[in-house]
Formats: sequence, structure tokens, C-alpha cells
Amino acid sequence: MSTSDSRTFLLYGLGVAAVVYGSYLSQGRKDSIPAFVGSKGIISSYAAALHVLRHATEVVTEGYYKDRDGVLKFPTLFRWNFLANGRKRVLEIASAPEHILSFNEGAADGLQSDWTMGPEITKNPYHAVAIRGSLTRNLGRCFPQVRDEIFHAFDDVLGLDGKDWKLIQVLPTTMQVVARTSNRLFVGLPLCRDPEYLQLNIDYTVTIFTRGQMIGLMPNFLKPILAPLFSTRKSSLRHALKFLGPLIDERLEKENEYGNDWPGRPNDLISWLLDLAEGEERTTPALALRVLATNMAAIHTSSTTLTAALYDLAVHPEHILPMREEAERVIAAEGWTKAALGNMHKIDSFLRESQRLRGAGAVALTRKVVAKDGFTFSDGTTIPYGAFLSVAGNAVHYDPKNYDNPDEFDGFRFSRIREEHKGVATAEEGEVFNKHMVSTAQNHLVFGHGRHACPGRFFAATELKAMLAHMLINYDIKAEEEGVRPPDMCFAMLRMPDPKGKIWIRKRE
Ligand code: HEM
Repeated sequence: MSTSDSRTFLLYGLGVAAVVYGSYLSQGRKDSIPAFVGSKGIISSYAAALHVLRHATEVVTEGYYKDRDGVLKFPTLFRWNFLANGRKRVLEIASAPEHILSFNEGAADGLQSDWTMGPEITKNPYHAVAIRGSLTRNLGRCFPQVRDEIFHAFDDVLGLDGKDWKLIQVLPTTMQVVARTSNRLFVGLPLCRDPEYLQLNIDYTVTIFTRGQMIGLMPNFLKPILAPLFSTRKSSLRHALKFLGPLIDERLEKENEYGNDWPGRPNDLISWLLDLAEGEERTTPALALRVLATNMAAIHTSSTTLTAALYDLAVHPEHILPMREEAERVIAAEGWTKAALGNMHKIDSFLRESQRLRGAGAVALTRKVVAKDGFTFSDGTTIPYGAFLSVAGNAVHYDPKNYDNPDEFDGFRFSRIREEHKGVATAEEGEVFNKHMVSTAQNHLVFGHGRHACPGRFFAATELKAMLAHMLINYDIKAEEEGVRPPDMCFAMLRMPDPKGKIWIRKRE
């Protein structure tokens, strides 16, 4: 960057800071919700906001215990965030309609998706409908392909030729395996094995996130001018079209000629999107964008989940044999099917426990208040129009009122409940067992809860359980250094496993 560029950047930064500062202050005056940190003036608020950047989990946990059924607020660099505590409030947020508390606007703000991806993603998120409906319904039918890809992907990516131990960096490995497996379902062979196409999808999330953060710093009135300079929207789409263009062109031609019922119509994401796409959405670039958006929702979430679980397995190796025995027994009896995965209770429980401890960021269920009159809880507490509202994430999962010995990693805590009650959660209530990996609850928020609970979680659970079972059957693993788990990385509201963490792995006899 030249000196004049740096100066422009600095001036721009100062201007932005001034505008953000002003809007920040005015937001603080609009409501009577108490702040639990940074309440003593502008400087203290900014100092607190900087503190939140690095210690969000601790700050939110403090707010969670300060008023267990209340609503509080805490400062971030750009605004006040509202934190609603208690089971009742979680349920009220989870069930609020989109035109009052918007999930899409909340997500769009975080990623600045109108600029980074395109406004249609927020206005018409129909890809979520395809995932919740057709993709989930077809999981059983498509499982043989998913299983086949898992088998080949681990072989290719790990590159283990002998029986010797190899030290691998876990996240890049799981990212490749998850990207390949997901794309076997989304776009099929041979594209799902194209290294450049996979890398494009892996990088897309990081690009959108980092560009979104930059654009988020801009005042709204400058975004139409400045955001396009920072956004990689057009170049990412151009790159994606190099791979997806010919495939989607051909599919559109066939659909236009024969409708959506022709011999050999692939059972994949493109068909499921085409079943719902109307008008401008039935074009090659528009459909390619949905494939990118689905990959973005799928790859990093699932690969960080698998990475965290492998770190947990390496430091809690006593779980290996019981889960391996379970996987081998179930596969011997039923073969590799989706239904067989449903009988791997210990593996399901292990993944759920790893997600409980490692899978939630500082906050969950982030929503933007889009009703002009604000959002009012049943006790009359009102959050103003335009504000951002969340519930605690990590703190809920570590709350002793929600879990016995909450700080302890107990991989089979959920499968034990299932065994004790023979599939029934409590004998008196006669409830169906509701602690599967995919079950969401007010005390289990890794997939969200309510109306917008992750629609991809059934696929995520299927592929992650199949991957873990495959690894247990075919490989031995151990920690890089006995008993030492690579530390999680936390920044702002996010939490992720150490991207550089390693484990030892070898092929089993
Ligand atoms: C372990 C892996 C995953 C985790 C932890 C995860 C987590 C989440 C969370 C926390 C939300 C927001 C829920 C809320 O605020 O109420 C969400 C939404 C979403 N997820 Fe996932 N997800 C995962 C995998 C996937 C996969 C594999 C797909 C696609 C196949 C997917 C597609 C989506 C979509 C489209 C939404 C937006 C839902 C809506 O618009 O209502 N996710 N996910």
C-alpha cells in the first residue's frame, strides 16, 4: 500500500469511527434495558467493547448469571447487543415470526450478505427450504453415494500407505473430506472431486466473512459506493461458474424441455433447487449462487464439528473401544445404511457432547428486531426496532442447572439416558427420547432452535456419524501430546477448534 493509500485508509477509518461512534451512542439511548458492562460512559463502553472482542464468552457468561431471567445489554464495537436469559425467553425468540424478529436480517448483517453475496440470499432464502425438505428427505436414498465418497475421501486426503503413525493437521483434512462428501450430494461426480472447485467452496466462506467484517465497518450511506470495491461477489461467482456453469446450463435446458420429470434426472441439490426456483432464480448464475451459499452453510460448520470431536477423542481415548465395537456390530448386522447410523447411539452421544462443550459461540439465536414497534416479551420487556437480540450460547451449555457436572466431557452422557429409559426420556412423562445429535432444545443450541433451527442438521449428523464410524473402524488415533487438547480459538462471538491442531493417525491392521 502506498503512503497516499495508507493516508486515505486512515482518514476513511477515522470518519467511519466517528459515524459509528455517533450511531452507537444514539442506539444506547433508545431503551431502558440495563447494561451489565461498559455502562459508565462512552470511553468505558468502548473499552468494554474491545474487551468483548477477546473475551465474549466470559462477558456473556457474566450477563447470564447476573439476571437469569432478565434482559441485559452489552457493548460491541458497532452497537449494543441485547442478551435475553432464561428458558421462556429462549422459546419466545425461537418461535417469533420472521417479520418481527428476523433471522435473515441478523445473518445478513453479520456477513453483510447484501454486498458480499447478493440481496436475493436474504430476500428469498429458498435454498433453506430445499435443504429442509428435499435434501433431508433424500438422505436415505443418497446415502450409498455419501458413504462411497467418505471412503475414498479419507483414503485420498490422508494418504496413508503403510501401517505407520502419521501426524496430520486436523482441520485442513476434515475440511477436504467434508467438502468432497457434501458436494457428492450437492453436485455429484466428477465435480465433487475437482480440487479447484473444492478449494473455491472452502475459501468462499472465509472470503465472505472477512469482506463482510470490512464492509460492516462502513456507515450505511457509504456502502453503495465503497462496498462494491471490497466485495468479491462478482469474481467469486465468475469463478464458480467456471465449474457449475456447464452443469447448470445443461440441467436448465433439460428442465425447460421436459419439465422436472425426465429419465436419469439426478437426485442432487441442483434438482432440489430447480423444483423451487421461479423467475429470475431459474438462471445459471442465480442457481450457482445458491450452490455456493449451501456450501458456505455446510462446510465450515461440519468440518469444525468433526475436528473438535477428533480432538476430544484423542484426549478421551477411553471412548474409542466402546464406539468402535458399536460401529462394527451395527455395520455387521445392518451394513452401511442411514438407518444403521440411527442405531449408533454412543457415536451420536459423543458428537452431541463434543458439540455441547465446543460447538456454541458466546451467543446463539441472533435476530434483528424488524417490527417497527420493537419486539415485546410476554412480561412486557421491549427491545427496540433495529436492535440485535441473542441468547447465551456457551453459558447455557455449561450451566449446572442444565447438565450434571457440566464442565466434564462425558461422551456417553446422552446414550446412557437412552439406555436407562430404553428410548423414553422420563418414564412418568412417557416422552420420546429427545437427546439425539439433531435434537435442539432451550439448553442445547448448537443448531439453533425453533423456526430457524439448522435445516442441514440431519445431513450434518448423517455425514459426521458416518465419518466418525469410518475412522473408528479403519484407523487408530492418538493425541499429538498425550492428554493435551489443542486450545479452541475465540474471537468476538465465534469459537472454533485450533486450525493448526494435530493428531497422530495410522491404518488399523
Ligand atoms: C455441524 C454442522 C452444522 C452446524 C453446527 C450448523 C449450525 C447452524 C446454526 C446455529 C444455524 C442458525 C440457527 C438459528 O439461529 O436458529 C444454522 C442455520 C442454517 N444452516 Fe446449519 N449448521 C450445520 C450444518 C449445516 C449444513 C450441512 C447445511 C446445508 C446442507 C446447513 C444449512 C443451514 C441453513 C440454510 C441455515 C439457515 C436456516 C434458515 O434460513 O432458516 N447447515 N445452522
